[in-house]
Amino acid sequence: MSTRWPTLIEDGDGLLILDQTCLPREAVMLRLTTLDDVAKAIRVMQVRGAPLIGATAAYGVALGLADDAGDARLADVMTILAATRPTAVNLHWALARMRSVLEKSAPATRRNLAWQEARAIATEDEAANGLIGKHGLALLELRRQGERSVNVMTHCNAGRLATVEHGTALAPVYAAHAADVPVHVWVSETRPRNQGLLTAWELAEAGVPHTLIADNAAGLLLMQGKVDLVIVGADRIAANGDTANKVGTYLKALAARAHGVPFYVAAPLSTIDFACPSGAQIPIEERAADELGAGDVPAANPAFDVTPAALISGIISERGIAAAGALEQWAS
Ligand code: MRU
Repeated sequence: MSTRWPTLIEDGDGLLILDQTCLPREAVMLRLTTLDDVAKAIRVMQVRGAPLIGATAAYGVALGLADDAGDARLADVMTILAATRPTAVNLHWALARMRSVLEKSAPATRRNLAWQEARAIATEDEAANGLIGKHGLALLELRRQGERSVNVMTHCNAGRLATVEHGTALAPVYAAHAADVPVHVWVSETRPRNQGLLTAWELAEAGVPHTLIADNAAGLLLMQGKVDLVIVGADRIAANGDTANKVGTYLKALAARAHGVPFYVAAPLSTIDFACPSGAQIPIEERAADELGAGDVPAANPAFDVTPAALISGIISERGIAAAGALEQWAS
């Protein structure tokens, strides 16, 4: 536990998180002790990234049951946490898992059980992402040509900051770096919340060579042959492989296809929503227009888009690499 990045750490009867709204200017730890603290942290994106949101919400359930673990309170806690963010299915997956464990048990035992289950979710996320790194490393090795760095393009932050540990899209990058496979990452800025700055920050912390680009520069770099492969994370993958990820992902997938560059999605199984048939059913979070910084100008701010399965070269999960249209093999 102590070697984990400080994205999510148990601290007595509370939780310590790295407040991502302060990065990259400052690394500020924040202690969460109540359900409201956790719900707010997820809503305002002090905690962000689909897998990390899921694990944090699980701990939020445990904190929410501190004084009352009865059925009515359990239902309220679930409702409050489920309303924090709509697109990342890991949140809803984690809550469903917590509910199925807790509703079977007597209220008197629920608080301890909730901490145990939240801990298990966090530990499993760390393990799953470690395996994603291992499987993805093979893809990077395939693209390696002599001493030249493998150039990976990513979008948003699907790194350590978005997970309990290792990251999803960045897990293969960290695995490559650890294995002395030379790697360089093109990091897109990711307007309007600039999660690319978070990616640049964590890559710098790890000593991985990288270059920040404006979102709209991605097409040019793909056209110029400066990208060997694109790896992005996911917030929800539908049963047919259509993938919701940070807005702008779809445009990168289109440009990658146009220029013959492989485009991979990396995510743990907790991000695959087998109950959701296709991308058309994925709820897309519409965030406040003021995040665009446009004053009184009428503005829309969809936070995610959907990349059709047909544009995805493969999905990397803890089970291996599968074609986006062949996820059924992972359904059980
Ligand atoms: O809105 P965010 O920052 O919580 O967005 C989630 C993401 O970090 C990305 O969409 C990411 O690629 C998937 S989460 C590993």
